Amino acid sequence: MLNGQKISDELLEMVDAPPDLVVQRAVQRIHEYGAPFDWAGIYLLSGDLLVLHSFLGLPTDLTRIRVGEGVCGTAVAERRDLNVPDVNAVDYYLACSAETRSEIVVLIRQGERILGVIDIDSDAPAAFGEDDERELRRVADALGEVLGPRLR
Ligand code: SME
Repeated sequence: MLNGQKISDELLEMVDAPPDLVVQRAVQRIHEYGAPFDWAGIYLLSGDLLVLHSFLGLPTDLTRIRVGEGVCGTAVAERRDLNVPDVNAVDYYLACSAETRSEIVVLIRQGERILGVIDIDSDAPAAFGEDDERELRRVADALGEVLGPRLR
C-alpha cells in the first residue's frame, strides 16, 4: 500500500527546494511502488491546459490535455478526483498506452484553486481502491501546500 503520509512528510520538508524537484520527487516516490502504479505523472494547470510536468513509465504523446477532455481534464472540469476502474468504459478516456486498464486522477489544490493533477495508470483492471484514493490525496494535499504559494 502506498504510504501517502510518508511521501507527504518528505514533500513538506522540501519547502525551499525548486518546485520542479518537488514535482519530480512526488512522481518518483509513487512510481517506485511498482504495480499497480505502472505510469505516474503530474500535469500542472496552465490556463485551460493541463501540461505534463513529470512522469515515470512509458512515454506519452499526451503532454497537453484540455480541461474537460480525458480523465484528467474531466476531473479538473468537475473539480473532483476520478477513479476509473475500466478506462474503456468511459467515452472521455484518452488512451496513453494500449496496456492501460484503469486510471486514477487526484486533484492538486491550494484551497479552491486547482494547480494540477496526479495521474496514475495501471495495466490491471480496477487497480485502485479507496485506500489508494486516500493515500494519493495525502500526497496531492502536500503538493498543494508546498507548490501553491510558488506557482503563479
Ligand atoms: N488517460 C489520460 C491521458 C493521459 S495518459 O494516461 C498518460 C486521460 O484520459 O486524461
